[in-house]
Amino acid sequence: MVSAPGHTPVMVEETIQALAVSPGGRYIDATVNGGGHATVIIEHSSPGGQLLGIDADPEAIIAAKARLAAYSGSVRLVNDNFANLEAICLRTDFFPVHGIFFDLGLSSLQLSDSGRGFSFQREASLDMRFSPGQELTAADIVNTFSEASLARLIWTYGEEKQSRRIARQIIARRPLKTTLELAAVVEQACGGRRGRIHPATRTFQALRIAVNQELENLEAALRQAVNLLGADGRLVVISYHSLEDRIVKRFMLNEAKGCICPPEKLVCACGHTPRLRLINRKVVIPSRAEIITNPRSRSARMRAATRIINQEELDESSERLFILAREAVGNAGKPANSGRAQRSYSLS
Ligand SMILES: C[S@@+](CC[C@H](N)C(=O)[O-])C[C@H]1O[C@@H](n2cnc3c(N)ncnc32)[C@H](O)[C@@H]1O
Repeated sequence: MVSAPGHTPVMVEETIQALAVSPGGRYIDATVNGGGHATVIIEHSSPGGQLLGIDADPEAIIAAKARLAAYSGSVRLVNDNFANLEAICLRTDFFPVHGIFFDLGLSSLQLSDSGRGFSFQREASLDMRFSPGQELTAADIVNTFSEASLARLIWTYGEEKQSRRIARQIIARRPLKTTLELAAVVEQACGGRRGRIHPATRTFQALRIAVNQELENLEAALRQAVNLLGADGRLVVISYHSLEDRIVKRFMLNEAKGCICPPEKLVCACGHTPRLRLINRKVVIPSRAEIITNPRSRSARMRAATRIINQEELDESSERLFILAREAVGNAGKPANSGRAQRSYSLS
């Protein structure tokens, strides 16, 4: 198995299979990080394959660039948020594609980077941003939100039963500047440590999700990903907590349905047609062997689907991408990829 130094990619073989990576294919790794999965994807798509790697973290892009240097002719790397997926693909003329892959959350490299503030085990300022371009930090949330807002955030994004007690303690002890200060406050609010999981785990998860608007960005990216896939293209997502997995599951199930009108409607008014077909009904989890060698993989959940395109939708999607491409060049003349958007949305 290939692994970026410090980060072992999760479910690599399952990913290659689910993406149906084949020579000459065009793939997007929307969370490229140090390029662990990306390296395997580009190797399996050779000869002739192309990869667009995206990451919100500029340091991840630097690491991916070094790791993928041998494939520089076939790889493009973009430092951006995957919430801008369509715009990135229009800008780089990279659509339609055979597969789009998301490996959500953060990498071991980011977790162990003492300057980032993701870990409750390392002293750092309360930052937690994937990108330094984002304004809101974890310190802003912890030190300015009201008690009720903090409790709601920790409950919603951390699924933390003690959210009210934790919020009350934070308010009583702030300003809090560092990760270890916050971890100690949470531990105290929870009445000390019990069991193997650190009491601050869920609070830190909640803050990271809020700082990076992870759930909103995921929803936006999934909607756009479907538009960028050619016929039979694959959408593959690995998530690491139930909130993300729920979004992916609901999205895929919904896109795999025909009519989505409420049951009381006797005649369909939504006109919804399936755009995805699920590859696995059940979520795919790592093997026991992988969990033993890479314990971080234990919470991974993979879901995958294939793009279905009927003629009517093909026309609409092409038209929409054409309009977007025209807007991307400020309506000033015909963009380079406009003909492509109209002609070759479907891949064969
Ligand atoms: C689990 S790591 C991916 C590891 C990668 N598959 C590998 O094998 O090296 C997740 C990556 O997604 C990035 N990320 C998270 N949310 C993002 C977003 N909204 N847009 C772009 N990148 C994001 C993080 O910065 C991180 O580098």
